[in-house]
Amino acid sequence: MDVSYDWNRLTPPKSLREIEARWSNRLNPLDFSGVWRFRNLLPFAPDDKVITIGEGQTLLNCADGVAKYAGLNAGSLFLQYEGLNPSGSFKDNGMTAAITHANMVGAKAAACASTGNTSASLAIYASATQQFQVFVFVGSGKIAYGKLSQALDYGAKTLQLLGDFDDAMAQVLQVCAKSKIYLCNSVNPFRLEGQKTIIFRILEALRWEVPDWIVVPGGNLGNSSAFGKALSELKQLGLIDRIPRLAIINAAGANTLHRLTAEGLCWNNGRPDKELIARFYAQMDAEKRKADTLATAIQINRPVNLHKALRALDATDGIVREVSDQQILDAKAQIGAGGFGCEPASAASVAGAKLLRAEGVIAPSDRVVCILTGHQLKDPNLTVAYHTPAKQESRDLLAAAHVTEMPFANQPIVVENQLDAILSAIDAVKCN
Ligand code: F0G
Repeated sequence: MDVSYDWNRLTPPKSLREIEARWSNRLNPLDFSGVWRFRNLLPFAPDDKVITIGEGQTLLNCADGVAKYAGLNAGSLFLQYEGLNPSGSFKDNGMTAAITHANMVGAKAAACASTGNTSASLAIYASATQQFQVFVFVGSGKIAYGKLSQALDYGAKTLQLLGDFDDAMAQVLQVCAKSKIYLCNSVNPFRLEGQKTIIFRILEALRWEVPDWIVVPGGNLGNSSAFGKALSELKQLGLIDRIPRLAIINAAGANTLHRLTAEGLCWNNGRPDKELIARFYAQMDAEKRKADTLATAIQINRPVNLHKALRALDATDGIVREVSDQQILDAKAQIGAGGFGCEPASAASVAGAKLLRAEGVIAPSDRVVCILTGHQLKDPNLTVAYHTPAKQESRDLLAAAHVTEMPFANQPIVVENQLDAILSAIDAVKCN
């Protein structure tokens, strides 16, 4: 399902600058929200039905340290920090829209399957509004602790399925169909309407100058699909004159989109080769191949938005790449050292930009926006493991995913509880 607007009967903004004026009216929660102040570009909800918790106050930051790492010129790389959302990930952009629609149709219960962030997001909206009972389905041992702790603390009924995310997704689809529970995964097209605003905020921060590239991690492919739709609609409305290229980055251990596009799968005017997809999944099942990456947020082998992502690739002259867990964790350490930090899956964007730069696909002077989808504190175990390679348990955790080098480890310095020892430890590492 897709949300499609008859713009002739609506009042989209005539210029994107019009939207900026809303900020001066920010005592109105709808104008404060980084999603709903763009509501003329996602006009499906009456104002009095909107449920907002102040999502979308996020930041686009020029990050020269990270640009250097990726091989880009100073001033060329921008990081979009979606971890600054209330539940710590980009999901809140979409969840406010889905929950608003749930409110419009009078739903009393909502559910999702999740690798962690969707569940945290749905749970925070339920606890903040007290309007819905929430069921979240997570795979066993496949969810970062920060995210599980959120779902539990916000009071969501958490079903820990003895399976992985793909299993949980298949089950929640059936459960929602049978039990009249409102489904909040990104198969829900209203989720994607909210996620379009990430693009609007990026363009706003760039003073409406379209960048050359938008690089995004690919999991269930909701973001990629929403970005393609946002850009196509802005172009259709004459609000931008060109469309940036989209680069979708899979983790190598969860690379369905990368493999399928490498085999030639494309949008094909709305008729992608369904047989190719069916054959691919049949083989995956025959091999009992499960998604496997330390970037647990994108540990997904059956992306529900595959078709829409193909449409987005078509609309943006987009490309797909895969990166290893080693590349992801190295990029993550560089992002942490060069800015606000992010969780592992998010770092696939910078690892992907670095790869595309090395391939010569991205030029050093191209303006590149990498989406940092989730907050650094979502998955502290992995971060600490990377930075403490001297510990056997750290090495074991990382080696299981073939991460054997920690070139950017920032190891804690063990020091005696004694002033002179502390001072000499500081002297030994002091820069000036
Ligand atoms: N980055 C993070 C931090 C995520 O949590 C996800 C998806 C993605 C990237 C991939 O985005 O699905 O739009 O391609 N997390 C989902 C979840 C699947 O359940 O939290 P996508």
